[in-house]
Amino acid sequence: MARPAYRVVANLLLKGIIMPVSLSGRHFLRLLDFSTEEIEYLLKLSKNFKDMKRAGVPHRYLEGKNIVLLFQKTSTRTRCAFEVGAMDLGMGVTYLDPNSSQMGKKESIEDTARVLGRFYDGIEFRGFAQSDVEELAANAGVPVWNGLTTEWHPTQMLADILTVQENFNYDIKGRTLVFMGDAKNNVARSLMVVCAKLGMNFVACGPKDCMPADDVLDACRPIAAENGCTITLTDDVKEGCTGADVIYTDVWVSMGEPDEVWEPRIKSLEPYRVTSELMALAKPEAIFLHCLPSFHDTNTTIGAQKAEQFGITEMEVTDEVFESKQSKVFDEAENRMHTIKAVMYATLS
Ligand code: CP
Ligand code: NVA
Repeated sequence: MARPAYRVVANLLLKGIIMPVSLSGRHFLRLLDFSTEEIEYLLKLSKNFKDMKRAGVPHRYLEGKNIVLLFQKTSTRTRCAFEVGAMDLGMGVTYLDPNSSQMGKKESIEDTARVLGRFYDGIEFRGFAQSDVEELAANAGVPVWNGLTTEWHPTQMLADILTVQENFNYDIKGRTLVFMGDAKNNVARSLMVVCAKLGMNFVACGPKDCMPADDVLDACRPIAAENGCTITLTDDVKEGCTGADVIYTDVWVSMGEPDEVWEPRIKSLEPYRVTSELMALAKPEAIFLHCLPSFHDTNTTIGAQKAEQFGITEMEVTDEVFESKQSKVFDEAENRMHTIKAVMYATLS
């Protein structure tokens, strides 16, 4: 029986034959550290893993290896993507929650890294400062993957872009992605980088005090110029969203921010909520993305609490848009698993 084409391509790709890119032994801390070709390679690898998973083709290529997941903040998607991805690749996994390791309280990050690097082949870290994940990487001696810090969320980007590719026939160069809301947060900053690297126009649309900081703008502007795309900052919704291909938003208050920011943030970000009227400004075929979790109704403790406190039943996106045909948020969530698997495979093999 002939081998399905995707299997042949997958094998060539996995061996780095089609794209001679090797990420073996590399950390995955922020996308600024990766070239366009390396990001494109990870996206192709992700699609291959997705095809294999869908077709039920086993891919236990990393049997015998073990990884550890260190979480200082909560997670559903990132943790499960690493766990299922690792298990599909044949690896063992240890999960350490925010309270169950000595790290930070009784043991420094440096010492923790030196211990875990002796036990494990790779380390995932979700925490606060980017400098923490960098310190872990500097001392672990094995690949370290950033599962989110206050500054960056690089694994999220691969899932987001794979979803954009899937919806636009893998033709994403020159398309425009608009981030609505708190455009200074980890997700918006990371989106600016990945768009610049892949030739997509990036628009940050939100109030002036929620714009990305100069460090990320200064880093991205020359990359965007090199790749023929633009970076725009605007507080004007009509200007920002008209003709867009992708409308993206995230929570208005990120993990680790103090409770006091809720009130001013809600006030300043309400005009930037993603509504059907806003989606109508974008192209008819435009899609809606959100990294999730999302406050699109009051079916969560925090959502209900904020509804009572501030009288709003939806925050960054209306339930109507979230549940609409244009919304690809659950495809995007699934893609976390395929893309994180690609990152682990590429760096550990
Ligand atoms: N998008 C994302 O990182 O989700 P989790 O916080 O559930 O991991
Ligand atoms: N900006 C959000 C992303 C969650 C996936 C946060 O940091 O909480």
